[in-house]
Amino acid sequence: MEFSFDVDALLPERITVLDQHLRPPARRPGTTTPARVDLQQQIMTIVDELGKASAKAQHLPAPITSASRMQSNRHVMYVLKDTSARPAGKGAIIGFLKVGYKKLFVLDDREAHNEVEPLCILDFYIHESLQRHGHGRELFHYMLQKERVEPHQLAIDRPSQKLLKFLNKHYNLETTVPQVNNFVIFEGFFAHQHRPPAPSLRASRHSRAAAVDPTPAAPARKLPPKRAEGDIKPYSSSDREFLKVAVEPPWPLNRAPRRATPPAHPPPRSSSLV
Ligand code: ACO
Repeated sequence: MEFSFDVDALLPERITVLDQHLRPPARRPGTTTPARVDLQQQIMTIVDELGKASAKAQHLPAPITSASRMQSNRHVMYVLKDTSARPAGKGAIIGFLKVGYKKLFVLDDREAHNEVEPLCILDFYIHESLQRHGHGRELFHYMLQKERVEPHQLAIDRPSQKLLKFLNKHYNLETTVPQVNNFVIFEGFFAHQHRPPAPSLRASRHSRAAAVDPTPAAPARKLPPKRAEGDIKPYSSSDREFLKVAVEPPWPLNRAPRRATPPAHPPPRSSSLV
């Protein structure tokens, strides 16, 4: 994906990590430095255009990633640039991966409700011309290292078929634990591995997390284990909530079978309730 400005100078590293501040990274020595406000505008343009391209690739009615949504959420975006081709001498963007911690209510394999705060995969896109070249894996691998999280500890917000295949191929994630919300979790999700998240997200997470737990903050934090059913909201907040057009029957009428491999055809994203 190309832009009218110099992407290569704007993003010196192959992978750039952006948070809600959308700060332009430090430029290479010797590079001319436009006004900071212009650089931030360029970052915002990249985020907006990537969000639009991702929505189009997923047949979503509207982008779930944009500069304004980034600024109003504590999400982190990993942006991959093309270091080989420099069309018109300005570089290009290959794709992005957006993640964020979310408080979710998820069912375990005994169908008990658990309040957890896992790292969630929220949006993921590689340019059409470059899919199936290993770029998605490169980005995902970088994110896992940076956030210090294992693939089975993640929750995925309505994964596409391509993403399900990707997770199966690269990380052997196949058997899901059925949920009543739109997040997909895999077998092994509840086998906690306490490791501190990387500074990129740790810095932006609620300080409450550190206050309640003297051990290092965990990627998937199991909060108070069980509440009275009446206290539990059956749906967890998804970034795709605003895309909903159809309404499913309320919980527990839409409960899934006990254990399943990912469905051949997941429900259309537009039917999301959460
Ligand atoms: N059909 C089926 N599987 C695919 C496809 C496809 N068109 N594209 C990628 N995959 C899976 C396969 O397992 C593939 O392995 P294979 O070629 O041996 O079958 C593997 O991914 C390839 O791995 P990478 O090359 O590392 O992945 P890629 O660079 O293509 O990135 C991604 C994967 C991000 C899913 C990309 O295909 C994409 O942008 N797809 C369109 C947008 C999308 O569906 N994003 C996920 C939305 S859901 C969410 O974000 C929570």
